Amino acid sequence: MALYSDKVMDHFRNPRNVGVIEDADGVGEVGNAKCGDIMKMYLKIDDDIITDVKFETFGCGSAIASSSMATELIKGKPVSEAMTLTNKAVAEALDGLPDYKMHCSVLAEEAIQNALEDYYTKNPDQRPQQTEK
Ligand code: FES
Repeated sequence: MALYSDKVMDHFRNPRNVGVIEDADGVGEVGNAKCGDIMKMYLKIDDDIITDVKFETFGCGSAIASSSMATELIKGKPVSEAMTLTNKAVAEALDGLPDYKMHCSVLAEEAIQNALEDYYTKNPDQRPQQTEK
């Protein structure tokens, strides 16, 4: 069996949504200290919908494929959906990653979380209220 699925290879060779959003509403950058890979996500958010998303990844093929797939999964979706996107969902959408490459998909989850946190820091009134128990 091939090490990487066709989807991983496709998103690695033809990554979707690569680039920078100059006037992004939220930007998140994460890195993995062990492998040294870095991922940066840019979000454009309008009326609680992620209207645009772009990424820059300086890293391995799985990290590039994970960021590309993650952008596809959250583009056009409500912020609340992007908040709950897990690295497992990204890996599943790619038809799996080898175990030792799962950490690459974690970068995508964390970069989106960081970008959303940046958005909420800049727009505190948009942050969902914690419900009292
Ligand atoms: Fe580190 Fe892929 S090897 S992100």
